[in-house]
Amino acid sequence: MNLSDVKDAFPILKQLENGQPLVYLDSGATAQTPVSVIDTIARYYREENANVHRGVYGLSERATDAYEGARSKVRRFLNAASDKEIIFVRGTTEAINLVAQTWGRRHLKAGDEVVITEMEHHSNIVPWQLLREELGIKLVVVPMTDDGEIRLADFEACLTSKTQLVSVVHMSNALGTINPVADMVQAAKKVGAKVLLDGAQAVPHMSVDVRALDCDFYAFSGHKLYGPTGIGVLYGKEALLDAMPPYQAGGDMIYSVTFDKTEYNVLPYKFEAGTPNISGAIGLGAAIDFVESIGLDTIAAYEHELLTYATRQLQTIDGLRIIGTAPNKGGVISFIVEGTHPHDMATLMDQDGIALRASHHCAMPVMQHFDVPATLRASFGVYNTHEDIDRLVAAVEEARTMLV
Ligand SMILES: Cc1ncc(COP(=O)(O)O)c(C=O)c1O
Repeated sequence: MNLSDVKDAFPILKQLENGQPLVYLDSGATAQTPVSVIDTIARYYREENANVHRGVYGLSERATDAYEGARSKVRRFLNAASDKEIIFVRGTTEAINLVAQTWGRRHLKAGDEVVITEMEHHSNIVPWQLLREELGIKLVVVPMTDDGEIRLADFEACLTSKTQLVSVVHMSNALGTINPVADMVQAAKKVGAKVLLDGAQAVPHMSVDVRALDCDFYAFSGHKLYGPTGIGVLYGKEALLDAMPPYQAGGDMIYSVTFDKTEYNVLPYKFEAGTPNISGAIGLGAAIDFVESIGLDTIAAYEHELLTYATRQLQTIDGLRIIGTAPNKGGVISFIVEGTHPHDMATLMDQDGIALRASHHCAMPVMQHFDVPATLRASFGVYNTHEDIDRLVAAVEEARTMLV
């Protein structure tokens, strides 16, 4: 698919919002869904809907093939070694909680250290705090600079012989910073720590190769990758997943049950208790087809150009301060406008058909670092255009004039 045709593939973007053509700039929260994904899900319910792995009849076999086909697509997408390493979960949050509650509970003990960064989403802070309460582990937080960057030296200074796990965000949702995760993995390996990467924001914007990164776990959500909500992925190295106890118990994750003893199913099913989100996984497979039809490198280059343009244009506005000025950023711009509250700005901009987020972005420690209650955040998707940026800038200017 050509970039010029991309917007047409998104029916929701054709509608008016408050009488104005919708400019959607909240893809960091959830990306819009292309018609190919919508049609794939509809076709599944029309033609293939049945439970997976259980039926010997044709319909169930087709549903199973489609569901497992989606798993293989994810495996290829991440360049994982085997389908066994791809666990379908509800999203990034569930993936991180799965690792905390299974690998974490089994391997961590009082005094062990888990390293995170100051720019984590709450989903990569709170699961470790729960373990801290339960097991007495120590949470070590790598500080970021005032540009919103993690310096490798600061990261390395937080690694000790007690570091068991490094769990860091690949790309920050609140700042757009892309962290030097390949170098971070290498440094973590030197002290023998395992590494989990939160890829929620990274996967829609750049190609990710888990084997090249050599991370142990990688988590992402389907809905930020132009797929449906309620589906996401935990990648884990096979040997690690194999040695982990199950997360939830129930159908599909068992091999045999008696009242005395239960044997668990093999990977990846050991971690997929109950009827999975079959249509979600198939929809995610279609979303991967969609981004691959454009090419992740093409997407990354295009969004970088949009980011550069938007940064330049927004900086012309009086009193506007960009929060997060790291040199290596993805398509996210957080900003505040002096003398205004982000919520008031976003409410006024909604009147102009501009959908952007005013919030702490589930990253309150980031807000604390910059001493702001919230920021406005424009986060881009592959469907955004230079015209969208012009409308954003005009709407910010207009709202500022009304409020200041
Ligand atoms: C960096 C990051 N991590 C984790 C999450 C949580 O994702 P989900 O709500 O899909 O589980 C998000 C969502 O905004 C995110 O941006």
